Amino acid sequence: MSVLERITSEDAIALEEKHGAHNYHPLPVVLSRGEGVFVWDVEGKKYYDFLSAYSAVNQGHCHPKIIGAMVEQAQTLTLTSRAFYNDMLGRYEKYATETFHFDKLLPMNTGAEAVETALKICRKWAYEKKGIDENKAEIIVCENNFHGRTTTIISFSNDPVARKNFGPYTDGFIKIEYDNLNALREVLESNKNVAGFLVEPIQGEAGVYVPSEGYLKEAKALCEEHNVLFIADEVQTGIARTGRLLATCGNCSCTDKHCSGTPEVKPDILILGKALSGGAFPVSAVLANNNIMEVIQPGNHGSTFGGNPIAAAVGMAALKVVKNEELAQNADELGEIFRKELEKFIPTCNTVNGVRGKGLLNAILINDTEDSSTAWDICMALKENGLLAKPTHGNIIRFAPPLVMTEEQLRDCISIITKTLRQFEK
Ligand SMILES: Cc1ncc(COP(=O)(O)O)c(C=O)c1O
Repeated sequence: MSVLERITSEDAIALEEKHGAHNYHPLPVVLSRGEGVFVWDVEGKKYYDFLSAYSAVNQGHCHPKIIGAMVEQAQTLTLTSRAFYNDMLGRYEKYATETFHFDKLLPMNTGAEAVETALKICRKWAYEKKGIDENKAEIIVCENNFHGRTTTIISFSNDPVARKNFGPYTDGFIKIEYDNLNALREVLESNKNVAGFLVEPIQGEAGVYVPSEGYLKEAKALCEEHNVLFIADEVQTGIARTGRLLATCGNCSCTDKHCSGTPEVKPDILILGKALSGGAFPVSAVLANNNIMEVIQPGNHGSTFGGNPIAAAVGMAALKVVKNEELAQNADELGEIFRKELEKFIPTCNTVNGVRGKGLLNAILINDTEDSSTAWDICMALKENGLLAKPTHGNIIRFAPPLVMTEEQLRDCISIITKTLRQFEK
């Protein structure tokens, strides 16, 4: 066993503290192994993972089919760049476009890169297809959005911590209230330069805000009416997380296995990341039909690693796992149980004000002020009790376990959560 393999939690944290930039504030737990819904720290303590790397590990840690595909491809061919073709990318593109019912896919690596890609496609479409004057295109975004961390993306964030002292900012974005159709209608009716509307089907980072029933469908109809592209950022909500293959599938009663390709809302541009690889590798993608994607020509956009053979093999394997193991259906069923059990518990305990979410993307609202440390303290206690979760924005705790969880495991987790919340009763 090497020296590094024997590291203690304390030493691992000290190393990061000293040698790493302090751009995160992790819970003090040092993980060294994962399998399915479980992770283990370096001292061997086992935890339920109730975050799934922010909804990336939907298929569970180290899924053998995904890891198998990755290892096999890594031993065969890792990277060609797009200077040459490789024998995996086309197969993956075919599989993914058939799965999501789009003509074409543009491969990238991280979620933020895919968002940037979608913004570029949307702007170019606006100039070349819609006929907006050069440099005048505007894209509507929502307050409290989270789309990543690049300079352009933080330009339209309203999180002061993400923005402050990173200016000057990129122009061309109009911010409106989330879940407000009148606000969207007003901008669309008064501004002829709008090219797109970028929206999260559920605002994850903001605290798992589920919009009103019908919001996305109506928003899409308004966009269509004004020849504006509806861009769905499903980096967090996609790949079965919310109980459907995509959150924009809405109440469509199909399971992904029998999907007819007629979801409740069909975005013009779909952005995917995170669980597109099951958390095994950075794989993201933008999907659109030919009339939109054809504005991208050689030299307009790219990435050395985007579309590499490992990503393609992993992406295909990860999507097959979602379908074959019916993870959307499992997320749907377990999500119902989770919210029902918490709704029963909440009136009996003054630590929590509510629970909300869809599928296995949920959050509880802690009964304390936004600047209190209670949510953090609860997460620390959850850790002691064998379950890992993290606060998002002050007094909200997000719960997003891997979708391969069984009902028995979920009920075990519910009992850990409720027992821990009782410890904080006032
Ligand atoms: C909705 C959404 N979009 C984009 C991103 C950015 O993804 P990445 O961290 O891979 O750049 C995230 C990450 O949490 C996200 O939740």
